[in-house]
Amino acid sequence: MKALVLYSSQTGRVKKLAEAIRSVLPANTDFLPMEQAPENFDDYDIVFAGVWFLNLKLDSISQAVLPRLKAGKVALFAIMHRDLFSDDISKNLRSAVELLPAGVWVAGTHVDYVAESMAKTPLGDNELFNVESVKDFAENTYYRTQTDKVA
Ligand SMILES: Cc1cc2nc3c(=O)[nH]c(=O)nc-3n(C[C@H](O)[C@H](O)[C@H](O)COP(=O)(O)O)c2cc1C
Repeated sequence: MKALVLYSSQTGRVKKLAEAIRSVLPANTDFLPMEQAPENFDDYDIVFAGVWFLNLKLDSISQAVLPRLKAGKVALFAIMHRDLFSDDISKNLRSAVELLPAGVWVAGTHVDYVAESMAKTPLGDNELFNVESVKDFAENTYYRTQTDKVA
């Protein structure tokens, strides 16, 4: 069994987080844009799914894929321009979690922040983008769930 990193990204920031996650997972980890999500997820022990939000709604590709993301464990990661300490963050995350099929173990969640003033601009080569926190999230989630028996 292996891991899959799946991501939805328009301006490049969720993809950047996805690449950072991929870099700390085992070498056989698969990496796919959400548009190329497989028909089923039977090959995967855990799926890291990267999503984003548009006017308080989950992006449309993730809206279509999450309801059929029938994997044993799913870890969600996102980037939002809402204040990280606001309740909008938990509401957004909850809206994504609630789309997952019944029985999926939500193994972890992680949110990064982008300033609203930057959000419409594609990620540039010179944009400072800290991926250390999302790497910690991925390592913690992956290795914790290899040994944990309960959610
Ligand atoms: C038009 C627009 C609307 C957005 N609406 C929200 C929102 O309602 N809540 C939020 O937290 N982030 C919102 N964002 C921020 C996106 O989640 C953020 O830009 C993210 O980086 C998009 O992912 P991507 O860079 O991989 O395409 C919005 C961004 C854009 C461009």
